[in-house]
Amino acid sequence: MQSVDQILAGRRICICAGSGGVGKTTTSAALAAGLAARGQRVAVLTIDPAKRLADSLGLEELGNEPRRVDPRLFEHAEIEMRGELWAMMLDAKATFDELVRKHAPDEETRDRILQNRIYRQISNALAGSQEYMAMEKLFEIHQEGSFDFLVLDTPPSRNALDFLDAPRRLTQFIEGRGMQMFMKPTGLATKVVGRGSSMAFSVLKRVVGIDLLADLGEFFQAFSGMVDGFRERAKRVNELLADPATSFMIVCGPQGEPIEEAVYFHRKLVEAELPVGGVIVNKVHYETEADLSENGVEEDLRGPLDGDLAARVASNFRDYQALAKRDARNVEHLARELQAKAVIRIPYMDEDIHDLAGLLKIDRYLFATEAERMELAASGTA
Ligand SMILES: Nc1ncnc2c1ncn2[C@@H]1O[C@H](COP(=O)(O)OP(=O)(O)OP(=O)(O)O)[C@@H](O)[C@H]1O
Ligand SMILES: [Mg+2]
Repeated sequence: MQSVDQILAGRRICICAGSGGVGKTTTSAALAAGLAARGQRVAVLTIDPAKRLADSLGLEELGNEPRRVDPRLFEHAEIEMRGELWAMMLDAKATFDELVRKHAPDEETRDRILQNRIYRQISNALAGSQEYMAMEKLFEIHQEGSFDFLVLDTPPSRNALDFLDAPRRLTQFIEGRGMQMFMKPTGLATKVVGRGSSMAFSVLKRVVGIDLLADLGEFFQAFSGMVDGFRERAKRVNELLADPATSFMIVCGPQGEPIEEAVYFHRKLVEAELPVGGVIVNKVHYETEADLSENGVEEDLRGPLDGDLAARVASNFRDYQALAKRDARNVEHLARELQAKAVIRIPYMDEDIHDLAGLLKIDRYLFATEAERMELAASGTA
């Protein structure tokens, strides 16, 4: 079974997608650090990283643009860094603002939109869904062309499919009936801005107040000139996701439901003709080769430990073995469903992954073949 660098050879983008809490942010950061250490100029776009991880990479001070992770951090963690690691934490609202700046026909329109109360509400709500803005940022950095490789973490949505659906949702929102009602030449926006005198308008004016109506009208009028730009952009973002130089890595956990979700997500990616590289099964209990017989474990422990403690450690060990067996069955099931796609197992580490040293532990598994992974796990260096 392949290592992640074999899977990603010749690619320029990797998107780590999967259900909530499975380890997308951690594996994205580990993958990017590993590729950078091996000589590439890599940028990782993280989304809501755990605070300690963000702190340890110096992400807190970063704006909505990738910044270089201090090479001295790698020296301290005794990692040879042959390339460059750049990282950023997505700011969805700032990304939306940048999008408006890009598409606004002139400075006046741009400022009118950005300062408009309605825009602020809408952009917060839309940006709140984060998915589209993550892709948008990926697209933007890709266009600038200053990195060898980009890794995209995806937002913590419960359902990984929300991510794939994001460009369509944005386009639908813009083209939806609500927006159209306002933006048509004869629509409400024109009446509001022109201080229309229709019955509907005067009722509305009384209900919501003239200022808000004026804001609404102004926003939709200014925005209407940008719809084509947005639509075109969403199309190109979609094309980038489907590009042969892009690779989706599905991240999942080893238990029942996440496995089924990963199988389903994989099917959807294939249906959408998006390039799938493989699956990273995170937090796996690797099977050990120790003697599993009920007495064997306890007998072995009785020498160094007192009776009660030996019994408890042995019971703990048997629990672990049961979990390991269950994980192995689930991973086998997953591998069957995925037909020849690479399945990379990362062990459940003793502690949270919150710094470069932790990411490096994950890299040992990501950048290894299956045989090497088995050996590593057996040697207990997880
Ligand atoms: N292999 C591992 N062993 C032990 N802990 C891990 C491992 N992988 C991730 N973690 C820990 O699990 C937690 C969740 O990981 P992470 O934030 O990467 O998940 P996520 O999929 O990005 O979550 P969300 O969907 O909320 O964005 C973190 O505290 C992280 O340190
Ligand atoms: Mg995350």
